[in-house]
Amino acid sequence: MFSGRTVLVTGGSRGIGRAVVMRFLREGAIVHSLSRTDTAAVGPSHHPHVCDVTVESSIDAFFQKEFADTKTSLDVLINNAGVELSGVFVRQNLTHDYNRVLDTNLRAVLFTTKAALLAGGMIKRKAGTVVTIGSVVGTRGHGGQVLYSASKSALDGMTKSLTQEYGRYHVRFNNVCPGYIDTEMTQKMSDKAREAAIGRIPMARFGTVEEVAEVVCFVAASKYMSGQTLGVDGGLW
Ligand SMILES: NC(=O)c1ccc[n+]([C@@H]2O[C@H](COP(=O)([O-])OP(=O)(O)OC[C@H]3O[C@@H](n4cnc5c(N)ncnc54)[C@H](OP(=O)(O)O)[C@@H]3O)[C@@H](O)[C@H]2O)c1
Repeated sequence: MFSGRTVLVTGGSRGIGRAVVMRFLREGAIVHSLSRTDTAAVGPSHHPHVCDVTVESSIDAFFQKEFADTKTSLDVLINNAGVELSGVFVRQNLTHDYNRVLDTNLRAVLFTTKAALLAGGMIKRKAGTVVTIGSVVGTRGHGGQVLYSASKSALDGMTKSLTQEYGRYHVRFNNVCPGYIDTEMTQKMSDKAREAAIGRIPMARFGTVEEVAEVVCFVAASKYMSGQTLGVDGGLW
């Protein structure tokens, strides 16, 4: 399905992003991934890069070098890099904590999406798709994660608005929202919090990174789906 297509996955060093990288490689894509940690390529078609997605000049330099200078087009952008923050809202530092969470989960998504449309050639070619990884915490809220929730819920409006602005260029935007998935991010949860979470999942288990990657790949491959926010959450209520 993606044979010879170029895919960029932000936050590809571990967790959901790593599973998405592996999935697109299996589909025959040429996959670039970005993370702050230096990681080894997992195959000849994988190109990992060290890049902090919160730094606009780094994103622009990456796109210039890999796409604009080489006249390579980006077919698929997966905005996956994210950071979580839990804690009581009134104890949070609305400068430092706000900047860390919003810069990664929202501002960086704007940086990469703008770069994909321009230097990545999506507007020029009138083709391309952007899948952003939101969260059920963004669609339903979650006490104890106010800043994280705010950063993720913004992605729904962004996705719908980009669809309205760039649909005429045949670029599609969708927002995939995982529930509780087994990664380093959720390994920090206490046993009590984990049990409480499982009690709200009809399928009575956390999801796997491969189960999220499967949906991301399906959404990227679809032809007429745009502006959607979809849950991958085992029916979490
Ligand atoms: N796990 C869940 O239950 C769950 C549920 C809902 C939504 N999500 C969302 O799914 C996405 C992936 O989550 P995950 O659980 O796989 O998290 P994870 O295991 O903590 O991995 C996060 C990835 O993002 C990268 N990253 C973070 N900040 C970055 C930055 N400034 N620049 C470049 N890369 C950066 C990390 O790489 P480096 O640290 O090497 O930079 C890593 O590859 C996130 O957006 C998260 O909010 C996760």
